[in-house]
Amino acid sequence: MDPMKKAAELRKFWHGFWPARALITANNLGVFEATKQKRDSSEIARKLKTDPRGTEILLDALAGLGFLKKSRGPHVNTYVNTKDTSTFFCRGSAYYQGDILRHAENIWQSWSSLDNVVKTGKKARRGQVNFDFEAFILGMHNIAVFKAAPVLKEVGLKGVKSALDLGGGPGTYAMEMIKGGVNSVTLFDAPETVKIASRFIKKSGVSGVKFLKGDFLKDDIGRGYDLVLMSNILHSHSAGDCGLLARKVKAALNPGGRAVIHDFNLEENRTTPVSSALFSMNMLVNNAGRCYTYSEYKSFLKDAGLSQIKKTVLVDSIIVQGRFLG
Ligand SMILES: C[S@@+](CC[C@H](N)C(=O)[O-])C[C@H]1O[C@@H](n2cnc3c(N)ncnc32)[C@H](O)[C@@H]1O
Repeated sequence: MDPMKKAAELRKFWHGFWPARALITANNLGVFEATKQKRDSSEIARKLKTDPRGTEILLDALAGLGFLKKSRGPHVNTYVNTKDTSTFFCRGSAYYQGDILRHAENIWQSWSSLDNVVKTGKKARRGQVNFDFEAFILGMHNIAVFKAAPVLKEVGLKGVKSALDLGGGPGTYAMEMIKGGVNSVTLFDAPETVKIASRFIKKSGVSGVKFLKGDFLKDDIGRGYDLVLMSNILHSHSAGDCGLLARKVKAALNPGGRAVIHDFNLEENRTTPVSSALFSMNMLVNNAGRCYTYSEYKSFLKDAGLSQIKKTVLVDSIIVQGRFLG
């Protein structure tokens, strides 16, 4: 390939953060709430209490990226949301992604320490100031809103009377289990998460979810469950802690009960899909985890004493199930 073309192609990698930063900043400043109706840039800057020049340059870039429609007039130019922008970035929409986008600001900060984390092995997250914990937890709902129903359909809830949503976050999966007819659903999570989840579940109008607070690595997670869901929790933990958790889950299951892992799908080569390989870096800068392969998930469950282990790949996720035969 022509070296000039190749270099231009390569440049896209290190400029890749530009659109991300424009979107994160727009979300942080509330741009898409201000552009629900057509407005010119000085009006938007007044509403947002931002610098007019900076605002106009940001608005033009957002329009160029396709997030805003710009209309050029004889005196002023106006900007308004596109249909997708209203669907995904304006509060009140069922598919709102603004919380997980707020969480991208948390991630931005931890990724900025990647050089040091790779050099020293020390986590960036530890001691990170201004970590928006609520954005992280509510952001989990922004993702799960598309996934909870198909994942639980694949898992199957027939015959499940009592279920545990371990590290259930905002409770999207727990609520879906209630809707799926499970009589007793318990969400276990850290106290600060349970505070957010109980408020969020109440606001969602679903009743019946029970809560257990604590550290699932150290505290009692209850027992007598027909199903324990571990959705997107193992990737935050070391392989040793994943094994420990699998053993605790097995001990909490009724005979015939199932342990279900739902997480990122990572091929055995650990390089593809590249989104999962990159997500492992996201864990590297935040905690002791990474994405695991099916062989690794299988070992966690098998070593804990679970049988009939099987997997399903659902778009970018993997579901791994094992049964406690009693
Ligand atoms: C990535 S979120 C996943 C939320 C939800 N299961 C989902 O799939 O949408 C991980 C959750 O695990 C919880 N968590 C992580 N470590 C924990 C621990 N040691 N004890 C209890 N909860 C923990 C976090 O508070 C968070 O709610």
